[in-house]
Amino acid sequence: MEMKIVDLETGKKKDKIIKTIEWGSKSATKENHEHFMIKEILEQPQAIKQAIMQDDAKLMKMAIGILRSRQVIITACGSSRYAALIGRYLFSKIGGKFCDVVMSSEFGYFADSIDKNTLVIAVSQSGETADVLDGLNQAKEKGAEIYSIVNVVDSTIARMSDEVLYLNCGPEIGVAATKSFLSQMIIFYILAFAMNNKIDYARKELTKVSDLIEKSLPYTMETTKKIAKLTKKQNDFFYIGRGINFAVASEGALKLKELSYIHAEGMPAGELKHGTIALIEDNTPVVAVNPNDNTYPETLSNAEETKSRGAVIIGIGDKESHVYDYFIKIEKVQDIFYPIMCVIPEQLLAYFLAVERGKNPDKPRNLAKSVTVK
Ligand code: AGP
Repeated sequence: MEMKIVDLETGKKKDKIIKTIEWGSKSATKENHEHFMIKEILEQPQAIKQAIMQDDAKLMKMAIGILRSRQVIITACGSSRYAALIGRYLFSKIGGKFCDVVMSSEFGYFADSIDKNTLVIAVSQSGETADVLDGLNQAKEKGAEIYSIVNVVDSTIARMSDEVLYLNCGPEIGVAATKSFLSQMIIFYILAFAMNNKIDYARKELTKVSDLIEKSLPYTMETTKKIAKLTKKQNDFFYIGRGINFAVASEGALKLKELSYIHAEGMPAGELKHGTIALIEDNTPVVAVNPNDNTYPETLSNAEETKSRGAVIIGIGDKESHVYDYFIKIEKVQDIFYPIMCVIPEQLLAYFLAVERGKNPDKPRNLAKSVTVK
């Protein structure tokens, strides 16, 4: 059977380069797992090791491009936007470069400030999200340079970018972003360290983090499963954190909402007292994303404020406290790498709550894997 590609208007044959995507069929099966989502969560230690396998020359070129640009705007949607928010902290903390994150559905309202000295970085697992494409088209019209961080090789966003970094995490079948979200974070880590010419150091440290996650998965699964059974009847969760942990908390809330259909809100811990604390009632679960970094004491204090109003505190961190009613311990790592450790418990808590509530975590209602409509 012969296949040919022709131009729709002229009918003339078009020569297209055939590219083979190195994705094995194994990725498209659940193997011995109940759902694709749990399989893909458990693939994350390997996903980290694949995400760090990038071309050094390209990393350095992009890192220099980021440092030299007058303004850097990262644009994404949903979980990819939370990865971008984490990347924003990393670019600032490690690379000393301030940048902003604009959710793609709002990008057009900022287009007036885009020019040829602007670098726009698109983050998208599918590489086909309509809101992101819309923003990139506007940015290109204004002469901006485009970088992208995507999973699907030769996707539309990849093809319209001046430079692309691929996640290398293979196909993500579950609608909820898990390994792709973590891989996006890893790309931001290695890009941020490239700004300091420390790619090899980043690879070494991220490999250690990967091994620690692998080691802690059985404990984390068992602990989150227990907590899910105890909190499955609750209808409002609050996820709190400070600094980079707020971005992590926001992704935790989104995971819970989209999988278990429980209302959840990610909150900057310091903001609770400015209104939201009015919603705290007896037994309201508050998840404190609280590793033992420079945000620990204040986030703990904010969690205690909710506890005094009846909340049940679920602590995610490496330092126990009497404030916590439940504690999901993470391994101790350098402060900068805590976000990676904290994401896994959030994903597993959302997964087990969905299962406890009889939902199918692979196919959440009303959601699509790639939102190709605006
Ligand atoms: C799925 O878990 C995500 N919550 C969803 O928001 C997704 O991150 C968003 O639609 C963006 O998709 P993309 O990464 O393919 O652009």
